[in-house]
Amino acid sequence: MSFTQGYNDDLRLAHIMADSVDDQTMARFKALDLRVETKPDLTPVTDADKSAEEAIRGQLSRARPRDAVLGEEFGSSGSGSRRWVIDPIDGTKNFVRGVPVWATLISLIDDGKPVVGVVSAPALGKRWWAADGTGAYTGKSLAAAQRLRVSNVSRLGDASLSYSSLSGWRQRGSLAEFVNLTDRVWRTRAYGDFWSYCLVAEGAVDIACEPELNLYDMAALVPIVTEAGGRFTSLDGEDGPFGGNALATNGTLHSEVLRTLNPDVDDLL
Ligand code: IPD
Ligand code: CA
Ligand code: CA
Ligand code: CA
Repeated sequence: MSFTQGYNDDLRLAHIMADSVDDQTMARFKALDLRVETKPDLTPVTDADKSAEEAIRGQLSRARPRDAVLGEEFGSSGSGSRRWVIDPIDGTKNFVRGVPVWATLISLIDDGKPVVGVVSAPALGKRWWAADGTGAYTGKSLAAAQRLRVSNVSRLGDASLSYSSLSGWRQRGSLAEFVNLTDRVWRTRAYGDFWSYCLVAEGAVDIACEPELNLYDMAALVPIVTEAGGRFTSLDGEDGPFGGNALATNGTLHSEVLRTLNPDVDDLL
């Protein structure tokens, strides 16, 4: 495996940080004394979410003191073109119920472009990663890497679609368009959270979409999908800035999915 020299060290650092938080989050997963609070938006957060983000921020402040950081639990710090974006646990609702589909998401955005992404899901025994220009990979470690490639499914009727929840589509006012899309594909499943997008990169799912997603939910997923040969845009087809909502496909299906979700728009990208 080779790396673009520019982000080689950043990718290695992201792996090192993921290794260290994997041990601590796994130790808290299913712990009898897990502390769960409810955030103002009525979603859960645990002591494991907070300590994982603190640990990553601590390592970044030593290894990359000049870089800015954005994390779900502790917000923004610093400024400049290089920004690390962290979701310490994506899938907290799974985590608190003992479902193993949760992951730590670590990414680097350089000048607005997500250039490094590591998704580490220790309870699944899986990790996915990518750096700009080097391909996307999966494996238990950097040394045991398998290259990822999106599917070559070219007909909507043969496609597999994954999403997280229906409520956001209703709020966005496009529930009917989403249901129409699910009627046209071969199979719809709610694998949810980071997993839908990693499955697109693996070629196991062809379309992943979400009407409500923050930058920290998706920044690590963008290079993993695009370096595997897929396309990652907003639901309106914008290539960035990222944040708000997301559509990831194998690339081949992207235009048709955009047209299905936006039937009244003629100048889609
Ligand atoms: C959630 C997941 C989910 C999305 C929610 C997010 P969290 O993240 O990304 O897929 O639908 O909007 O809040 O809170 O488990 O990190
Ligand atoms: Ca959360
Ligand atoms: Ca998240
Ligand atoms: Ca989270």
